[in-house]
Amino acid sequence: MGIKKVWFITGASKGLGLSLVNQLLKAGQYVAATSRNINDLITAVNSNSEKFLPLAVNLGNELNVEQAINSTVAQFGKIDIVINNAGYGIGGSIEELTDEETRNSFDVNVFGTLNVIRKSLPYLRGQRSGHIINISSIAGINGATGWAIYSATKAAVIALSEVLAEDVKSFGIKVTVVAPGAFRTSFLTTESLVLAKNPIEEYEDVRAVHARYLKMDGAQIGDPEKAAAAMISLASMPNPPIHLLLGNDALQRATAKTDALTKEFKDWKAITISTDFD
Ligand SMILES: NC(=O)c1ccc[n+]([C@@H]2O[C@H](COP(=O)([O-])OP(=O)(O)OC[C@H]3O[C@@H](n4cnc5c(N)ncnc54)[C@H](OP(=O)(O)O)[C@@H]3O)[C@@H](O)[C@H]2O)c1
Repeated sequence: MGIKKVWFITGASKGLGLSLVNQLLKAGQYVAATSRNINDLITAVNSNSEKFLPLAVNLGNELNVEQAINSTVAQFGKIDIVINNAGYGIGGSIEELTDEETRNSFDVNVFGTLNVIRKSLPYLRGQRSGHIINISSIAGINGATGWAIYSATKAAVIALSEVLAEDVKSFGIKVTVVAPGAFRTSFLTTESLVLAKNPIEEYEDVRAVHARYLKMDGAQIGDPEKAAAAMISLASMPNPPIHLLLGNDALQRATAKTDALTKEFKDWKAITISTDFD
């Protein structure tokens, strides 16, 4: 990798975030990384490089996020690439998940991402450069049974990224939203994944799908090191994509969704176009 850049990465004590931090430090880049638990992060990264800034951050707390962004700029002079990576899966039908369980997932997956964007943009706008990379999921494009809330949070990340890309284009800031398929991280472990505390017996299909996903832990098709490398490569592209799928499974599910949408729009066209004033 050529020029030294400053990266700000959330949720870095494990999984994709940790792979990103390790690869970037190895490449001599400047990396500020956040975690809920700074000791876990320091232990996981195991680096005493002065180019590494570990930060304890509660992403749902806007002031906390602002302090982390300010510390990064104070330490490294600027921020070039922001990666909103922190997030977790939440399983359960809408009826089974409480308001609190639902809101907690939006706090991390959506509002945390918004806090980081809101607090880093003044710097990126001032520089007239930067790249915001938001990690969504294939679930945000084509959700599966039993994961409605997770899909909703990740669909929100896609929607906000698409419009953000337009809003900040004239400032020279790029935006990419990444939709990974299944990757072999801690995502499906009890450490990360949250399942409804109050399951309802009748939701048999939901339970069956969850059992299938849990069984997949450790055998996911996606290699997190390759995903991290692909995300890092975005930063040196003059024209990076707004949407990037990662994994064959993601490509298949996204294509199935776009095909189904196209067919449904076409099948119901008569009613769709019947509602305009004559
Ligand atoms: N692996 C997959 O199959 C897959 C597929 C599609 C999308 N994704 C997305 O990719 C991103 C990274 O996930 P991963 O696969 O690397 O999973 P992971 O190994 O579980 O790591 C997730 C990271 O997000 C943070 N995080 C997890 N739960 C959190 C919570 N309740 N509050 C705040 N932060 C939390 C953690 O940060 P700290 O513990 O350091 O605070 C952790 O380092 C997530 O946004 C996830 O939704 C993953």
